[in-house]
Amino acid sequence: MEIDGRTKICGLIGNPVEHTLSPMIHNTLAGRMGHNLVYVPFPVEKGRVAEAVAGAHALGVLGLNVTVPYKSEVIANLKENDCLAGQIGAVNTLVRTKGGYKGYNTDMEGLYRAMACEGIRIGGEQIILLGAGGAARAVAHLCAAKGAAKVYMLNRSLDKAQTVAGEVNKAAGKEIVCPMCMMDYATIPDGKYLAIQGTSVGLTPNDEDVVISDATFYEKVHTGFDLIYSPWETKFMKLVKAHGGRAYNGLKMLLYQAIIAYELWNEVHVSDADADVVYEKLREHFTGKT
Ligand code: ATR
Repeated sequence: MEIDGRTKICGLIGNPVEHTLSPMIHNTLAGRMGHNLVYVPFPVEKGRVAEAVAGAHALGVLGLNVTVPYKSEVIANLKENDCLAGQIGAVNTLVRTKGGYKGYNTDMEGLYRAMACEGIRIGGEQIILLGAGGAARAVAHLCAAKGAAKVYMLNRSLDKAQTVAGEVNKAAGKEIVCPMCMMDYATIPDGKYLAIQGTSVGLTPNDEDVVISDATFYEKVHTGFDLIYSPWETKFMKLVKAHGGRAYNGLKMLLYQAIIAYELWNEVHVSDADADVVYEKLREHFTGKT
């Protein structure tokens, strides 16, 4: 693509940003869709988020993604927030509006779309959610917002799960999230569940780690969705499959959080064919297989 006087800029603010795949995703989309747009990483020093957001707006930057450690801190610098992003208290996408940026959480909308893409529903479902950290907390909000029937939130430290459950149930106005200690998984009522793995256990290089290894747990799982995508197939996914369930990694969540941001910035719809091209590039990156 030729950069000229009309080229629009989007980018990523965070620290560090060196290992991000977002430029590859967005620049591929811009190329395929014929948009005069470039996406670049912006490393932002601690304490300079307000300056970065105001400066980007002053420079006409169309949109920004936000990554660690600024997803919460950035909120104070925005003109408004999308409802789900406000509930979660974390924003990963800024969309330019007159006088400032509007914040969105496309991580969670991305997870929702990735699941929909695989035919996985949240509405009306009985869900087991492993973890109560930043990622799992956002997933709990998503499940409540999309009408899950029940979410059993299992965490190593019960107090954290209790805090998150209290917060999500209050926002939802009903008791959807049931906090539990990870060790008590056997007391989950019999049935078949969608299980979402939202802890950091099993991440490369600890490929063989898993929060629950007991077969009786996996007999209750019809579908497993791991937010991790490195390794490509986590131990959690292997155990779900070994007990007859379907299992997915988090790569489509990564893909769709970017696609939704791209759609918001450019007011377009990214086709399935374009999404597939980017997915293949990501898959090759992580598996090394063409
Ligand atoms: P993230 O932003 O990726 O969610 P986080 O907020 O640090 O990261 O949360 C990590 C999650 O993984 C938590 O649910 C954590 O459990 P605790 O709240 O009990 O710490 C979970 N986790 C990390 N290491 C774990 C381990 N060895 N066993 C069980 N759970 C673990």
